Amino acid sequence: MKKQIGCIGCGNMGGAIRAGLARREALWEGWGLAAFSRTAARLAPLTELGVVACSSGAEVAAQSRYIVVAVKPYQMDAVLRELAPHLTADHVIISVAAGVGMAALRESVGRVCPVVRCMPNTPAKVGKGVFGLCFDDPSLTDEARRDIHALFAALGVCVELPETRFTAFSALIGAGPAYVFAMMQGLVQAGATLGFTWAQSREMVAALFEGSALMAAREASPLMQLRDDVCSPGGLTIAGVNALDRAGLAGLLVDAVLAADARGREMEQ
Ligand SMILES: NC(=O)c1ccc[n+]([C@@H]2O[C@H](COP(=O)([O-])OP(=O)(O)OC[C@H]3O[C@@H](n4cnc5c(N)ncnc54)[C@H](OP(=O)(O)O)[C@@H]3O)[C@@H](O)[C@H]2O)c1
Repeated sequence: MKKQIGCIGCGNMGGAIRAGLARREALWEGWGLAAFSRTAARLAPLTELGVVACSSGAEVAAQSRYIVVAVKPYQMDAVLRELAPHLTADHVIISVAAGVGMAALRESVGRVCPVVRCMPNTPAKVGKGVFGLCFDDPSLTDEARRDIHALFAALGVCVELPETRFTAFSALIGAGPAYVFAMMQGLVQAGATLGFTWAQSREMVAALFEGSALMAAREASPLMQLRDDVCSPGGLTIAGVNALDRAGLAGLLVDAVLAADARGREMEQ
């Protein structure tokens, strides 16, 4: 079987992954891309990028070795059970559904083929996602593991995790864009308060986050050092930073992630 990549369910996340892969098709040296979604209109923007539109999950399985399934968690079992008769041991199912464990996925495909769990976050839409990948299925070959890592590495950063770390990953990174957008909203609001237009303020704040994130990723200095480097003694920045410290921003962020983790573990029960 050729190493083709299929996708079943092309809504927000499936569509983003599929479109991201299609835009980087040169990387795949002729790997084909096929997709099926319940509402055919979802496939139109993807076919423009060269993705082959299929009329069923069975057709995707006939064309693809690796199948990303991106339907809602409550739809996953039914979709996989319908797909199972069309799967062989050479296929690999990659589920992006939050909260659906490996054991349930294996059960749904009738243990015919290996399964992989992937937890994406929404910046995958712009090729800057962080993907938690769980390769705990012992029937997964090293080749498949390498292929799947490379596949998602084309859309962002991949972190391989045991399944027991998935909830923690979801609380920090899956939910992460919500925390970042909330912080950005506060700064955009501050910009508007100081008389910048909302559009100017948003553009400036987005560039501020992008530039600061790049510095944090590239420079080896501790984050506190990078922060202090901006704070001249007696200056304007330290006055702002003092206000943040009084409000306990770092502690608030820790509390937010711990609350999300606790809720995630509660939902797993
Ligand atoms: N969005 C995120 O930020 C995010 C982050 C991490 C993980 N995830 C996971 O990603 C998965 C998808 O979430 P989403 O936000 O992308 O949902 P979504 O926008 O509703 O996409 C799901 C898609 O699956 C299609 N679908 C449903 N049943 C189908 C079937 N039987 N056969 C083929 N296609 C079918 C739906 O078709 P219709 O268009 O007809 O409804 C829809 O296009 C979820 O399991 C979620 O946990 C999402």
